[in-house]
Amino acid sequence: MVELLGRAIAMGWPVLLMLVGLLLYFQVSISDPGKKKRASFQTLIGILCAFLAFIAISNYTYNFYGESRLLPVSLVMITLMAFVMGIYFPNISALMKIGGFMFFVAAALSGYGNWLPQVEGGFPPPVVKLDFQSMSSQQLGDEGEKIIFGGIGQSKTQGAIGKGQCPLCHGFQQGFLSERAPNLFGIPDRAVTRLDEPNYHKGNPAARTSSEKEAFPGSGTAENAQEYIAESHACPSCYVVPGFGVKGSNDTESPMPKIHKPPISLSLGELAAVDTWLYVREGKEAPSYEEIVTSYEKFIPEADRPVAGGEEEKGGGGNILADGSEPHDKLFMKAGCPACHTIPGIEGAVGKVGPLLMEGTNAINRIKDSNYKGKAKSPKEYITESILDPSAYVVKDFPDNQMPKDFGVRLTGGALNKIVDYLAQLKEGQPLPPKE
Ligand code: HEC
Ligand code: HEC
Repeated sequence: MVELLGRAIAMGWPVLLMLVGLLLYFQVSISDPGKKKRASFQTLIGILCAFLAFIAISNYTYNFYGESRLLPVSLVMITLMAFVMGIYFPNISALMKIGGFMFFVAAALSGYGNWLPQVEGGFPPPVVKLDFQSMSSQQLGDEGEKIIFGGIGQSKTQGAIGKGQCPLCHGFQQGFLSERAPNLFGIPDRAVTRLDEPNYHKGNPAARTSSEKEAFPGSGTAENAQEYIAESHACPSCYVVPGFGVKGSNDTESPMPKIHKPPISLSLGELAAVDTWLYVREGKEAPSYEEIVTSYEKFIPEADRPVAGGEEEKGGGGNILADGSEPHDKLFMKAGCPACHTIPGIEGAVGKVGPLLMEGTNAINRIKDSNYKGKAKSPKEYITESILDPSAYVVKDFPDNQMPKDFGVRLTGGALNKIVDYLAQLKEGQPLPPKE
């Protein structure tokens, strides 16, 4: 706070001095003995304007790094200053009026975007429709990295996770031991060898022992690396990597969700981006966009293909616990949290296995804790992380590995947001948040 103020003053001073200098210069040049009174009046106005400019600049610098809506105030102040100077200082009147007008336009524009709609949380992010088809492999790969990890360059960050949710289960770095799912490093090469494994029953889906022999009646089986990858994504149980099946299913059932189905619901374009990344990040040439899309069309019937940017499907997927359309009490009950957690305001949520979810208060303390090694910067991020990756930080005096780790695939994005929103509003000594 003090440091910021210091910085603002440091940046404001030179400008202030320049202004005072400028004013004095004009002051001297226009004042003659007969105009003493007028001159001292002008000095007063000049000083006031300089003061106004100083406050405007300080406010601007001070708020520049935050998401403040106060920036237009600075512009309005400078506009005002310019016009006042324009009126009282005839020799620089034109200059000031032009400058003032420019600031007026700037203030109006930024005010329109920034000041008028005082909506909580600001604007929703613009919905950009990506044209996957016309991207280069590199661009497509970057989009893939975003879908898997949540951002470009995030693939090296432990725990980074995007819409695809893959890192919930998979490791992606060479040598990284993952117990829950195969490490996906080297998948473009390994995919070809999978086709020759005895359990794959290449060309003879009927001989497969898996619970789901085909993605849909009449679909073929994979014949090349890309088709193997597409099939793994669209129909994980079609072939289960030995040792990774659902416990007790004798490797006939995969725990991996079909990633074109809710809650992940990747479109063909997004799937192409993900696959392209799997190749290009190893320096391999990826199949073309068209080849990848064709490989998916082989395994995903037309009716099952999600459209990019399309509305999230509601209530789909047999293993989805809740989709967010439920009122709060029901939502939490369906998600199963009340069995383990006491949640203020939620009917029947009196569980004692996990901590009291006073998260508006808890989250801040957790992030500050020196043992905290997670990535969250805000309470909502902390709560989301706690739900998707419960072991990222284990609350003191509570056991690790108790809370289920598959909420990421069993709650839709809508359900997760609603849960996080509610929990974030629970603060000690404050009224309960509104419920539906
Ligand atoms: C809930 C955990 C989970 C999630 C989330 C998940 N997977 Fe999987 N995945 C698995 C498991 C377990 C296997 C091994 C069993 C099988 O063959 O289905 C697997 C297998 C695979 C395979 C075949 C690997 C091989 O060596 O043959 C690929 C490719 C794959 N997953 C890609 C992905 C991608 C891409 C995503 C994200 C869009 C993803 N998975 C999300 C659990 C998961
Ligand atoms: C089987 C029991 C169990 C279930 C079900 C469960 N949790 Fe947890 N949860 C725990 C335990 C134990 C901890 C403490 C250990 C840890 O941090 O992982 C915890 C920790 C948390 C935390 C961190 C709390 C804090 O103050 O730091 C949050 C947030 C959370 N759970 C939310 C949920 C939500 C939301 C659900 C339902 C979608 C849920 N949990 C379901 C057992 C459970």
